[in-house]
Amino acid sequence: MEFTANSLEQHWMPFTGNRDFKANPRIVVKGEGMYYIDHKGGKILDGASALFCCPLGHGRPEIANAVRDQLLTNDYTPPFQLGHPGSFELASLVARITPEPINHVFFVNSGSESIDTALKIAMAYHRAKGEGQRTRFVSRERAYHGVNIGGVSLAGMVKNRETFSGVMPNVVCMRHTLLEGNEFIPGQPTRGAELADDLKRFCETYGGSTIAAVFVEPIAGSTGVLVPPVGYLERLREICDQHGILLVFDEVITGFGRTGQAFASQSFGVTPDIMTMAKALTNGAQPMGAVAVKDSIYDTIIDAAPENAIEFFHGYTYSGHPAACAAGIVTQNIFEKDNLFARANKLSGYFAEALHSLKDMECLKDIRSYGLLGAVEVKAKGAPGALGTQLQKDLFWNGLHIKFTGDSGIIAPQFVAEEKHIDEIVDKLRKTFSKI
Ligand SMILES: Cc1ncc(COP(=O)(O)O)c(C=O)c1O
Repeated sequence: MEFTANSLEQHWMPFTGNRDFKANPRIVVKGEGMYYIDHKGGKILDGASALFCCPLGHGRPEIANAVRDQLLTNDYTPPFQLGHPGSFELASLVARITPEPINHVFFVNSGSESIDTALKIAMAYHRAKGEGQRTRFVSRERAYHGVNIGGVSLAGMVKNRETFSGVMPNVVCMRHTLLEGNEFIPGQPTRGAELADDLKRFCETYGGSTIAAVFVEPIAGSTGVLVPPVGYLERLREICDQHGILLVFDEVITGFGRTGQAFASQSFGVTPDIMTMAKALTNGAQPMGAVAVKDSIYDTIIDAAPENAIEFFHGYTYSGHPAACAAGIVTQNIFEKDNLFARANKLSGYFAEALHSLKDMECLKDIRSYGLLGAVEVKAKGAPGALGTQLQKDLFWNGLHIKFTGDSGIIAPQFVAEEKHIDEIVDKLRKTFSKI
């Protein structure tokens, strides 16, 4: 199958150099298990669970059949003032694995929508409590919280912000947690917990009672797997508690087993007030996200509204879409039946060792890893990110898909991967990087 530049012109592709891509396209025509097949017939190992969405591997017939059956039974029900069984069942399955007392789940269609929804829940909660003066939000350098105006306002990535000046006001960013001297450490670095004291300084500068919520990815994923130093998340939790600030964990990448437990919250032993999630919720087979909140947040917002009135003026036409719920239910059941979070946990030792075996490569600046998530950062050549962009393409043509952000290549194997797949990933990284 051949694709010409002309036939690709109409689709304006997201987060892609359109001119570069269309001159030399990389089209995936099939996904099966651990592999993609491209339009030239090449076999590509998917070393990133696609975009961190597909830990069960590609083309799962159980999910496809459930979606098909659902569409033939009930293709769509308006989510406002009506319900269908799937959304209640999926909410129960998600609440079963979130940490206590996080037991209420609001469905959305993407990670970006989960962030906007979490921002609005935080605002609604404080207002319901009579603390409407809490209008400030805290985020972090190198944060990625999606691309809607809420997420861009929280973003700590210059390229995602600089074009869009009219975002939400009143957001301040803590420093990121990547400390010089912490390179090539598998798991959590021991230095750096004090970086959480940036939040304390904001409380001293702006007044803790003006801050509504702090948003962090427990592991900053998209900007290159920045693993939190030991004690850092605990310290954030402590400061939030002292000042009545909500702690929001964005678990869009880390959720559903990526860290070896259901959520990073459990891996790190820190419970937030609100969690955002998406991606692996449906194994990527249907677009879906969710926000899960503590009982006290749900109860406060619900109880503050007049009896029988709508309590939260928010929702999407496709919130809890029946087909997405069907995919989500099967995905969650497979996670449980096949004990896949434990499998991810077990494989993570082998993964870390294999990835860190690349340490001898002269071109590498750092290797980071936690659970089944890792990054190899190359030393920049020319403009920052130029080498990373080239490597992403070279790796693809050498039979490996991973995600590059800037000069960090991010690796996230499927939970169904075997040791030989990890070996293949590392082998292909070494071969491709040795040509730099
Ligand atoms: C931590 C985090 N939050 C939010 C998002 C946005 O998700 P989506 O692309 O589904 O809108 C992402 C996407 O990678 C993410 O990694």
